[in-house]
This record gives sequence, C-alpha cells and structure tokens, in this order.
Amino acid sequence: MASKIILLPGDGIGPEIIAPTLEVLSAVGTSFDYEEHAFGGASIDVHGTALTDETLAACRAADAVLLAAVGGPKWDTTDPDRPRPEQGLLGLRKGLGLYANLRPVRPLPALYDASPLKREIIEGTDLLVVRELTGGIYFGEKTRTADTASDVCAYTRVEIERIARVAFQAARRKVTSVDKANVIETSRLWREVVREFHASEFPTVELEHVLVDNAAMQLVSNPADFDVIVTENMFGDILSDEAATLTGSIGMLPSASLGDPGHPGLFEPVHGSAPDIAGSGVANPMAMFLSAAMMLRHGLGLESEAAAIESAVDRALADGLRTRDLGGSAGTREATQAVLSNL
Ligand code: NAD
Ligand code: IPM
Ligand code: MN
Repeated sequence: MASKIILLPGDGIGPEIIAPTLEVLSAVGTSFDYEEHAFGGASIDVHGTALTDETLAACRAADAVLLAAVGGPKWDTTDPDRPRPEQGLLGLRKGLGLYANLRPVRPLPALYDASPLKREIIEGTDLLVVRELTGGIYFGEKTRTADTASDVCAYTRVEIERIARVAFQAARRKVTSVDKANVIETSRLWREVVREFHASEFPTVELEHVLVDNAAMQLVSNPADFDVIVTENMFGDILSDEAATLTGSIGMLPSASLGDPGHPGLFEPVHGSAPDIAGSGVANPMAMFLSAAMMLRHGLGLESEAAAIESAVDRALADGLRTRDLGGSAGTREATQAVLSNL
C-alpha cells in the first residue's frame, strides 16, 4: 500500500513551492497517497483556527507530513486573543511529539560565492543544528495585561536527555552544546544534564559547551569547526537562520522534525512564507525539495531516492542555476526544470 503523506502548503510562497516538489517526488519514482489540508492562515480563513482537530488527526494517522510555510501580514496581530498561523505550526509540532528538529547546513562549493561571507570562511563547513522543538519559552505559560507580559521558559531533565541523545547519535566528531548558562537557569540545568549524559552514554565523542552569543559569532567566523550543534528551542531558531547565510540563502535550508520512532515526522524548509515575494513566481524551491528528500530518508526509509534528489539539486546549482535570492534571475519554474532535468 502506498505511504500516506499529508500535504500542508500553508501560506505565502507555500503553494508555489509544494506543487513543484510533487513533480520532483514523482520524477524520482515514488508514488504516494497524498492528502492536502488547509493549514496556518489558509485554515484560519476557512475554519477560524490555524490547525483543526481533523487536520491534526490526519497527520497523526499518516506516514509523514510535508509542510511548506505559514504566516503573513494578513494574519499579523499583537492581540493574544486572535488566532495566528504560527499557532498551527506549534500545535502540530507539539501534537505529533516532534521534539527533535534536524537542520543540516552543507554549503555547496558551487554556492560559496553566493554567500556574503568569504569563501575561505565557508569552505569545509558541514554542520547539523539539532534544535529542541517542543519545550522552552515557546511552550511555557504566557501572561498578558495592558502593561505587562511574560513567557515562562521551562525544561525538564527528560526533555534535555532525549535531545542530547539525538545529537550524540548524529555526531561524527563533536557535539557543541549551546546555552546561556552564565545567566539563565534552564541553561544551567541544560549544561548539567548534557554533561552527565555525555559522561554516561557517549564518553568517546568530544563535547564542548559554548555560550549562545559566542556561538552566534563563531558560526560566521569559524563555521567549519562545528559538527553537531545541540541547543534549546529559541536559540536553535535564531542560529539556524544565521547559519543559512553560509549556504547562500535561507531558501536552501531544509529540516526534519522527528519524535519517537514509529511516529510520523514533519518535513519543512527552515524559511517562512516570504510574503514579500509571494505570488511572483521567484521563490527558491530548493529548501522544499531538500525537505522532501529528508522525508524520503528519515520518514520513509527511501535513502537512494533521497540521495537522487539531493544530487540533482547539487548538479543544477553546479551547472549555474541561480534563483534571485542567490543573485541570479531564475524563477521557481526554471529552478524546478533544472532539477528535473538532472534526475
Ligand atoms: P521568511 O523566511 O519568510 O523571509 C525572510 C526573507 O527571506 C524574505 O526576504 C524572503 O523573501 C526570503 N526568503 C525566504 N524563503 C525564500 C525562498 N524560498 N526563496 C527566496 N527567498 C526566500 O521570514 P519572515 O519574513 O520573517 O517571515 C514571514 C512569515 O513566515 C511570518 O509570518 C513568519 O512567522 C512565518 N514563518 C514561518 C515559518 C514556517 O512556516 N516554518 C518559518 C519562518 C517564518
Ligand atoms: C521556524 C519558524 C517558527 C519557529 C515560527 C514560524 C513559529 O521560525 O520553523 O524556524 O520559530 O519555530
Ligand atoms: Mn525560524
């Protein structure tokens, strides 16, 4: 029986990059049972909420979920009582138990000159950000009055241990645990638990602890020194957008969000709905294609099909394909065509 994939195109450039991704998936020889659901702002417009119970249930019952992006000016609000598209994304991550977000950062030699950073700095970079995705300040209690607001940041030992395990399992050389243990209490627990976990389960892998401000600096001055970076939810959010600069564009970075084995994963680009370019046919679809490749590998066990998409993306870029975000003039259609012709 064909695997069941839930498609969540979402908002902004979302529908523009999901459609060509289905062409790429089909060209690589896969055939899935797709089911599309409105999500984010598109779901608010029809259902009044960013994630309906029905969509969450469909995702739980599927083999994998492929999501483009949510959000946009139409739904922007600072009123805590009004629905926001991003609540759908957070609800989905929490509802599927997706605590481990993998964001690989592998700048392609062909794109070294598309980055604002110097080629000598980027050369040899191949790192993985392992972002904790269902805890921290994103999910703590929130309060709001006219004049005060608060967001609780909480972590438990269990939450820290399970993300540390993912990081050490993925490491080839070293794990860099990023925190703010000089100031924040959750970071002090984070550091203690990672240190203990390392000593008891992975003593042969190198472990270093780096404060987040220093890590942000090192990421653009000495990125090749990193192997696996493991960090809490919000630090991981910020550092991964920063790391995207190493690849030439945020439009290049894919991600996989995973929970315990046997549960469906969620696969989505790191970038957002890019409202500034939505509807103009110029979105870079590569992060979305590479997220589909991560779905094949991590979600469905289709390693050779995943590698085929990745190498077709590499070859298209090596042949000179450049979308606008990479300093060129190719649109989404041309980029898709270039990848398809390399499959
Ligand atoms: P963004 O990532 O959408 O855009 C930042 C900049 O990068 C923009 O100039 C945009 O045009 C460009 N960009 C992003 N993806 C691109 C692509 N594939 N090709 C070419 N250029 C691309 O971030 P933002 O503007 O801060 O956020 C816009 C909306 O997206 C917000 O509502 C935000 O909450 C949401 N968002 C959603 C997700 C998600 O769904 N996973 C992730 C991040 C942001
Ligand atoms: C991301 C996004 C989301 C996050 C937003 C849209 C909730 O920025 O996936 O990186 O902060 O996790
Ligand atoms: Mn982000």
